[in-house]
Formats: sequence, structure tokens, C-alpha cells
Amino acid sequence: MRVARTVAEVRAAVAEARARGATIGFVPTMGYFHEGHLSLMRQSVAENGFTVVSLYVNPLQFAPTEDLAQYPRDFERDRRLAAEAGVDVLFAPDDAEMYPDGPQAQRTVVSVRGLNAVLCGRSRPTHFDGVTTVVTKLFHIVAPDRAYFGQKDYQQALIIRRMVRDLNFPVEIRVAPIVREPDGLAMSSRNAYLTPEQRAAAPVLHRALSEAAARIRAGERDAGRVRAFLRETISAAPHARLDYAEVVDPDTLEDVDTIQGPVLLAVAAYFGRARLIDNMLVSP
Ligand code: PAF
Repeated sequence: MRVARTVAEVRAAVAEARARGATIGFVPTMGYFHEGHLSLMRQSVAENGFTVVSLYVNPLQFAPTEDLAQYPRDFERDRRLAAEAGVDVLFAPDDAEMYPDGPQAQRTVVSVRGLNAVLCGRSRPTHFDGVTTVVTKLFHIVAPDRAYFGQKDYQQALIIRRMVRDLNFPVEIRVAPIVREPDGLAMSSRNAYLTPEQRAAAPVLHRALSEAAARIRAGERDAGRVRAFLRETISAAPHARLDYAEVVDPDTLEDVDTIQGPVLLAVAAYFGRARLIDNMLVSP
């Protein structure tokens, strides 16, 4: 596996692979790999002749009050894990390579309006524009045939699908299932922030989602009652501070009143300084 630090190096490696007929798979990440990232890499390796993984903690998607400086990093471990997963190029640029004039001097911003303002967009109003802008840059740098995202970030994946459709990116978006710890906690790099007590409490997100899904499958049709159940269950857990718990349409992310078709249950909560998200798609 090669480590590329510059846009020119990745482009050269991708051009070489394409010239020998390989399709290009791409997994964008912010590093500190866990099984969720590795499953995306393995899927890309299985489905493409050449896989590029980017490892870049994108300042543009963090608000000044958020955890950019503390975001967990371990480059040597990430390099080893990506190589073991069969990745061909690990693209690990620095800020100067991605934003030569500094992130705040970036004048062109890609914004998927509406979808960027609900759920996580309410408490992180600039987050998704930062994501779609850097993913646009990365798509232009890597020019992949397929790009892989995890369903844990359901809203992010939906927004990127919409961006790809609206802006005619020639890339197929694949979304892979959430990878969970044995007790149900969705894997996330931010789980590293949890104290043992917070870690013990955090599976409440998955428990609440599972119980709400069971209620819907058993006939519950009132989304308000499901929302209230999710909010009460998460708020009652030790160490949890609820951000949101919603029942929304899986395509538009608009609130649902009466559950008649598939819905997305989406939750976010703080456990100490870790803001964790989780979700579940449910068909009645
Ligand atoms: O999901 C992430 O890790 C990031 O939002 C992404 C897609 C790599 C963009 O920085």
C-alpha cells in the first residue's frame, strides 16, 4: 500500500490503475479506524480493482466549539489496518494540501439545502456544508467509480447521494450497514472519548431504537408516541444528554405524524464530551 500526501500523487496512482482497466473504489474517512471503516474498505477491495482511502480530519466540518483539536488520531495504526484490508493507496493530505489558503478562505461551498438543516444540522448548522465541500474536493481528486459510506451517518449518506444526483457526479454511492459492538453500541471513532461509566450507558441509544422499532412492528402508528418513548428512554439513562430523537421520512427527513410506510428513527445524545448518533430504518 502506498501513502500519498499530495493531490498529484493520488491522481497519478489512480491514472495508472485506470490505464490497466481497474475500477476505482473510494472510502473517505477521518481516520482512527474501527471495524465500520474496515468493512467499507473490504467491500471496496472486493468490488473494485483499485481502492483509495482518504484519511483527513476536515476542519471545515467542525464548528469552532467542536472537537477538531481532540479528534482521535493514530496514523501508524491506521496505515497498518488499511494495508491489511487490501487498500492500494492511503491518501493522507495535510491542511495546506487540501486548503492552500486555509479552510476559512475557501470561497466555494457545496450546500445540499434543506437536508443539511434538519436532525444533526439543527445543532451543527455548518457541519454538512463542510462535509459536502470536502467530499466534492475528494471526488474531484480521486475520481472514483464507487464511493462507500456507512449507514451510521445516514443523513450524511443521504445528502451525498443527493449531491451526486444534483451535480451529476459520475460516481455510484454505496451505503453499508452499521457495525455494532456486541452490546449494540454503533462503532464510532468518538467512542474513544467515553469514560467507562459513559461507555456502559451509551448502548441505551441502540436499545431505545430497537424497542421503538419493535413497537412499530407490533402495530404502533403514532409517530409522536414513538418519539416520546425514544426521548424519555434516552433522557432517563445515566450520563446521557439528549440532542434529538426523531421519526422521519427516510428520503426527505421530514417529520412523520402517522406511520404508514418505512420510517427512519434517528437519535443523537451527548455522553460527556462525546456526541453519539445512531439510527434504524423500520418498516411497519
Ligand atoms: O464520515 C466522515 O468520516 C466524514 O464526514 C467524511 C465523509 C470523511 C468527510 O470528511
